Amino acid sequence: MASYDVIIIGSGPGGYVCAIRCAQLGLKVACVEGRETLGGTCLNIGCIPSKALLHASHMLHEAEHNFAAMGLKGKSPSVDWKQMLCYKEETIAQNTKGIEFLFKKNKVDWLKGWGSIPEAGKVKVGEEVHEAKNIIIASGSEPATLPGVEVDEKVVVTSTGALELGKVPKKMVVIGAGVIGLELGSVYARLGSAVTVVEFLDVITPGMDAEVQKTFQKILKKQGLEFIMGAAVQKTESTKTKAKVHYKLRQDDSEHILDADTVLVATGRKPYTQGLGLDALGLKMSSRGQIEVNDKWETSVPGIYAIGDVIDGPMLAHKAEDEGMAAAEQVAGKHGHVNYGVIPGVIYTHPEVANVGLTEDALKEAGHAYKVGKFSFMGNGRAKANFAGDGFVKILADKSTDRILGAHIIGPAAGDLIHEICVAMEFGASAQDLAMTCHAHPTYSEAVREAALACGDGPIHM
Ligand code: FAD
Ligand code: NAI
Repeated sequence: MASYDVIIIGSGPGGYVCAIRCAQLGLKVACVEGRETLGGTCLNIGCIPSKALLHASHMLHEAEHNFAAMGLKGKSPSVDWKQMLCYKEETIAQNTKGIEFLFKKNKVDWLKGWGSIPEAGKVKVGEEVHEAKNIIIASGSEPATLPGVEVDEKVVVTSTGALELGKVPKKMVVIGAGVIGLELGSVYARLGSAVTVVEFLDVITPGMDAEVQKTFQKILKKQGLEFIMGAAVQKTESTKTKAKVHYKLRQDDSEHILDADTVLVATGRKPYTQGLGLDALGLKMSSRGQIEVNDKWETSVPGIYAIGDVIDGPMLAHKAEDEGMAAAEQVAGKHGHVNYGVIPGVIYTHPEVANVGLTEDALKEAGHAYKVGKFSFMGNGRAKANFAGDGFVKILADKSTDRILGAHIIGPAAGDLIHEICVAMEFGASAQDLAMTCHAHPTYSEAVREAALACGDGPIHM
């Protein structure tokens, strides 16, 4: 038995960042992980592998669509799927080994195995029970499936199976036009699959800015994705190689069937708390299966904290990381804090989609007087040169104070551009502060400045 200041259960972005920060703050720390490798969903079966496949398939798309126009002639590359999967695996390994290195460097003990909490102050891993003054649960999430849809991870898959299909399917049906459905749907569409996305609502990516939703769907359609909107999937039927997806259109209750080689179920994720022994501990849970915490990430049981996908809030790696750092600081007697109003969201399709802060709909609903500054990438020289003129930057600012309230970007490098606005919002900046900051030319970030100018006297290049 070993004794620690902190034991963290789960080594995803929440858990591993928390462990490293605890060690930096002088605490004796261990992290329990049941997987073979560190890094959680994000590094093993989430953010990293999906971005590797998005990158490779985007390169193919560029070669097929834009190379000839730039005077780059020759045969387009063909897809060696096995090699693409090797590249993805190699990318995962580099990242997970990187966390192992960081654990060693920071003297974080990796307790290998599945952990449970027999009582406050104790963590059981295998047959061993370790003592911990503080326990932090960072056990993450798992895919939420649908009734009537049986996942076999071969023909009917979640994102996990979709990252290691035996071959590129001819026909893929994606259930759910959320982040996973559109990212992985884009991957397979670029690789040659006929992709049909079936979405329950009338809009894609629920919760996002309405103008972005419309533009995004139009662009994805141009890229070959088909959409069936307002459709509730009832069930799937599958053999070893094919599946049928039964759905009902909400507007007239008519029933339809789609054939597919692969069905990707991407209808959300749910917290993962299996095997932790939380019932016996009497830990308070929400009706959605999340662990309830206060503003210091303390659960209802003293000495036990929770962070990341297993608690409320957006299920994002960087949100989990921020909570990991803040919870470590709380445990160390400092004042860890997360500004939940400034957590960016990014969809890594092409173009990328990014947002931070409030949407126009939310402002309208709150009766908040606001102004909009918008600038199209068509007016951005760099974007035009790079065949990346689709999309826009939209900044929402308070009508009287000019303080930035939110931003919504669809366009090239949107996932990077959004951070300039995040920093501005953290500092309580006005749109004019951004507009008066010199931006290098020619860069995509000039479009952010132009949108900020559009909140005032107007953009220059439009
Ligand atoms: P997780 O990463 O889920 O890690 C939890 C870990 O805890 C797991 O390794 C699990 O094995 C371990 N564990 C659980 N219970 C126990 C136990 N009892 N004992 C020991 N170990 C245990 N987010 C982004 O921000 N950007 C993206 O681009 C992005 N892409 C994604 C793509 C896909 C396909 C998916 C599925 C998700 C993606 N996400 C992305 C979401 C992101 O992966 C999660 O928000 C993030 O991983 C949550 O971190 P976490 O630390 O809370 O949990
Ligand atoms: P999601 O919540 O983003 O989207 C699910 C979609 O499925 C919604 O549009 C919903 O209306 C639809 N749906 C639900 N039931 C349906 C039904 N019966 N028939 C048809 N459609 C139905 O969930 P998703 O895409 O599974 O992602 C899960 C989580 O993973 C998200 O919370 C996201 O934050 C995270 N993630 C983040 C990424 C990023 O940051 N780039 C990438 C991938 C995942």
